[in-house]
Amino acid sequence: MNPLISYSDISITMSGKLIFSIDKLEVPAHQCTLLTGRNGSGKTTLFKIMAGLLKPDTTKIHYQGLDMTWSQGKPYIQKDIIYLHQQPYLFDASVTDNIAYGLHRSGENKASIHKKVMQALEWADLSHLAHRSAKQLSGGEKQRVALTRARILSPRLLLLDEPTASMDTQAKQQTGLLLQRLKFEGISIMISSHETHTVEHLADQHWQLEQGQLNVLKKSPVTDNVTHLNAAKQKN
Ligand SMILES: Nc1ncnc2c1ncn2[C@@H]1O[C@H](COP(=O)(O)OP(=O)(O)OP(=O)(O)O)[C@@H](O)[C@H]1O
Ligand SMILES: [Mg+2]
Repeated sequence: MNPLISYSDISITMSGKLIFSIDKLEVPAHQCTLLTGRNGSGKTTLFKIMAGLLKPDTTKIHYQGLDMTWSQGKPYIQKDIIYLHQQPYLFDASVTDNIAYGLHRSGENKASIHKKVMQALEWADLSHLAHRSAKQLSGGEKQRVALTRARILSPRLLLLDEPTASMDTQAKQQTGLLLQRLKFEGISIMISSHETHTVEHLADQHWQLEQGQLNVLKKSPVTDNVTHLNAAKQKN
């Protein structure tokens, strides 16, 4: 299957330090990829580059048959790839208004927005929270509202940064269920996590950022086969 999007030669330096230099990153379509790596290995930075939110020093993008620089690809990737922060930012408004926000921005009419939001609330089992203030929700509830708000914009790829961090078991299960539904709907997903065990069951493959390199840890019940995708280019 063709990848959803390919990035080549992605590198970024922050405060004079090379964070990573990745020869090739191909996002599998309709699959879930788990990204792990130690604190500071660059997972968040990579996600922000992939979502068109942070300009890297270098990268080329191949998307929808086109070869582009990051700047040329930015409008396309910002539309189709959504990055979700660990602690999602919700507006000081109702859950319904938060979910509707992106649709208002895209200029949809009110009746259509209302219908979509009601369906989305039902999809996420959030109907009972529709009129609650989003600011008052628990961390787990906020994460589910943020996932619903993202889904309603019909992304092709969701990049989830630590989606289950500081959640209790029930909240993790509820988030996991929504992620499973998103995957079933064909949305490609990448999840960065330190809690491998809570999301591993969703993942079709497992990548690891380590010392500026992206390694593929092939999932296998017998052995984890490590393939190096790129040569070490760390300056350190
Ligand atoms: N705006 C910035 N300016 C300077 N350095 C930065 C900036 N953002 C990130 N860094 C550095 O880049 C490196 C990678 O950070 P990043 O947040 O991407 O790591 P991470 O893998 O997401 O870590 P964690 O697991 O803790 O979330 C770190 O050394 C961090 O200090
Ligand atoms: Mg991070």
